[in-house]
Amino acid sequence: MSDQLIIFDTTMRDGEQSPGASMTRDEKLRIARQLERMRVDVIEAGFAAASNGDFEAVRAVAEVIKESTVCSLARANESDIRRSGEAIAPAARGRIHTFIATSPIHMEKKLRMSADQVLEQAVKAIGWAREYTDDIEFSAEDAGRSEIDYLCRIFEAVINAGATTINVPDTVGYNVPEQFAATIRTLIERVPNSDKVVWSVHCHNDLGLAVANSLAAVRAGARQIECTVNGLGERAGNASLEEVVMAVRTRRDIYQCDTHIDTTQIVPASKLVSGITGFPVQPNKAIVGANAFSHESGIHQDGVLKHRETYEIMRAEDVGWGANKLVLGKHSGRNAFRSRLIELGAAIESEAHLNHAFARFKELADKKHEIFDEDLQALISDEAVTPELEHYRLVASCFHSETGETPAARLTLNVGEAEVQAEANGSGPVDAAFKAIETVAKSGTELLLYSVNAITTGTDAQGEVTVRLSRDGKVVNGQGADTDIIVASAKAYLNALNKLHGKFEKLNPQI
Ligand code: KIV
Ligand code: ZN
Repeated sequence: MSDQLIIFDTTMRDGEQSPGASMTRDEKLRIARQLERMRVDVIEAGFAAASNGDFEAVRAVAEVIKESTVCSLARANESDIRRSGEAIAPAARGRIHTFIATSPIHMEKKLRMSADQVLEQAVKAIGWAREYTDDIEFSAEDAGRSEIDYLCRIFEAVINAGATTINVPDTVGYNVPEQFAATIRTLIERVPNSDKVVWSVHCHNDLGLAVANSLAAVRAGARQIECTVNGLGERAGNASLEEVVMAVRTRRDIYQCDTHIDTTQIVPASKLVSGITGFPVQPNKAIVGANAFSHESGIHQDGVLKHRETYEIMRAEDVGWGANKLVLGKHSGRNAFRSRLIELGAAIESEAHLNHAFARFKELADKKHEIFDEDLQALISDEAVTPELEHYRLVASCFHSETGETPAARLTLNVGEAEVQAEANGSGPVDAAFKAIETVAKSGTELLLYSVNAITTGTDAQGEVTVRLSRDGKVVNGQGADTDIIVASAKAYLNALNKLHGKFEKLNPQI
């Protein structure tokens, strides 16, 4: 059995299915570049048939990613598979991941198909996928509640048809480790052609067992884990990439395999995904939580100072903590700025684009003397907004907040081609700013979330604001960063409105 564990990241597909975690094409590109830098083996970039936006995003990722395999999800029907095949066509290495449900409850109540019909459809799906690629993954949705004899039968048939990876999802997070490991072991033993494929698992976290189930499956012979950065995903999420990777790395003695992952890229990936989706990471989250490596009790601190391994099983720097060193300052030149942006994975489209970003960097460096990677990441996010998608833009702002007075905001906005003034009072300056914007936008949206995070430390840090808005079942996140958090808030609100205003469309791809 191979000692290589394939890491299949589905942050941009299953992760995106978390309500409010929708990502634009540009956001997906930034995440994809970070995943490639982290040396993820397979990047599931989306569900190409879900919408034109999804198709474009998968295709854009397929165009730029060279080292990782780029994958698109497809239901087991011809048109979904065609869309996926077209979307991954430019990829250096492309995979189609097709799925159909196999549990009695899903086949009877959802698909209204017999087990034989499902098997026949699955085999046809592999045939359609083979027209586009040899790298074909088949998933038996809700395998965790499917009958083992039937799983053996359908897997044998799709392997004969040409599937190269067989994925066993615990779609509703119902399994427990011993049981899930036994399922994987039995499948590998009983499916006659099991040695022709890579066995993969995809675990949801409804009982908090997604990582434990995935790792138990590795002990039983699985050699691909599907996971997401920060454990993002449908409902309670998917197995968390960082926990899986570090468990396997730290306990090689138990798992007898390792990944290609550059673990120092884990924390930057976590921060990037959290910033883009607006889903904060809980402080006590393993590996990527802010407290994951801090020791509070005197006894622990004393032990760590005497000998780190008394209380630490991993080194913070090995997963990318402490990398937020000072990178640039107000005297840094254009070349240093350009090379740091490239290292951070920013796409510099033209000299004009670079000049614009450099001017914004100089403005920031005037306000905030020390510029860290996180500041540059925030600047890149702002710069990533395509001008034609920026219907609303903040030109100038004035806020009033004084004890005993009603807070007020006066804004100058660009709306399309026109410049307009907007003013309003509110319960605080942020409320006033949002109300002022609404006097112009009249968006009819509901504010679902407002959160502020300091990007780095110190009172001169930039505040990064996330705003989540919903209208007619569409949910979008907007981000804004500035050393003034009221300005950051107004930018975040406008960013979300721009996403609603533009052609940004998102259907929930869960069937
Ligand atoms: O949870 C699930 O079953 C899935 C499949 C489409 C792999 O996400
Ligand atoms: Zn899933």
